[in-house]
Amino acid sequence: MGAVVTAEVAGSAQVDRFDAVIAGEQRIEPRDWMPDAYRATLIRQIAQHAHSEIIGMQPEGAWLTRAPSLRRKAILLAKAQDEAGHGLYLYAAAETLGVDRAELTGKLVSGRQKYSSIFNYPALSFADVGVIGWLVDGAAICNQVPLCRCSYGPYARAMVRICKEESFHQRQGYELLITMMRGTGSQRRMVQDAVDRWWWPSLMMFGPPDGASPNTARSMAWRIKRHTNDELRQRFVDMSVPQARHLGITLPDPALSWNEERGSWDFGEPDWSELERVIEGDGPCNTERVERRRQAHEDGAWVREAALAYAHRRGAEGDRRAAGEPATEEER
Ligand SMILES: [Fe+2]
Ligand SMILES: [Fe+2]
Repeated sequence: MGAVVTAEVAGSAQVDRFDAVIAGEQRIEPRDWMPDAYRATLIRQIAQHAHSEIIGMQPEGAWLTRAPSLRRKAILLAKAQDEAGHGLYLYAAAETLGVDRAELTGKLVSGRQKYSSIFNYPALSFADVGVIGWLVDGAAICNQVPLCRCSYGPYARAMVRICKEESFHQRQGYELLITMMRGTGSQRRMVQDAVDRWWWPSLMMFGPPDGASPNTARSMAWRIKRHTNDELRQRFVDMSVPQARHLGITLPDPALSWNEERGSWDFGEPDWSELERVIEGDGPCNTERVERRRQAHEDGAWVREAALAYAHRRGAEGDRRAAGEPATEEER
């Protein structure tokens, strides 16, 4: 970790500047002084976000070889590739805070850092690909659009591009569902079944209810977070209900009803004990997801070694060229 100034030795001028940048809606950049707790919160949040992008390729990845047409396969491949890219931007953003990616990956595969609990559910049919795009990417967009205004510069800038790509994912998912809903009765049943399984876990993506989310207030004061979990969840429900109607599917919540006074949809309470269980490692696919990531990381060791050896050689070559020495036989 780089030189970290602790709050105790930081001068009050530094603290004042930090507070003024936050209050003035400007950005904190990597070389700026920041409180240790701000840095630690961002490292945890960005790492967890990066891990979610990478692990998030797995549920749908299972359908890459079984896509029903070349067009659907190309779309799904492009999406998986986007998610890998999101992971890379985010690990790079975390690195500006003084951690390295290898360390974060180590924490993920040893279970010391988490990823979004939603990716511990299986994708059982091709309709799940559409529902994940519509609901999971949709929930991710609700969560992430406000992060484009996060007070930490590198995170905010990474989110701008990520959000643009996420909105493509949501549209492709919705388009797949529209196509299936215009198909046969069994295709429509596949869509309804997938919605029944993904709806509640999607609502849980916004985290526990505000009363059980002790860190929210501090993250909001630091302008990392802009809205509470419950506000974002409500926004997602309000956005999804008309889309569900348009599709012709039923959301599996008997408590859903329009609240004229609030101008919003009332909805039922997710089963928070399920969220706790999945976070604690007892979801349907937790072990499989982490194990697969660990195996992929080990299988990729030779690529990292080769890339490093190549970078060293290029470095040595550059040094010699700068010193006016001829290239070696090997370099030619
Ligand atoms: Fe993503
Ligand atoms: Fe996505």
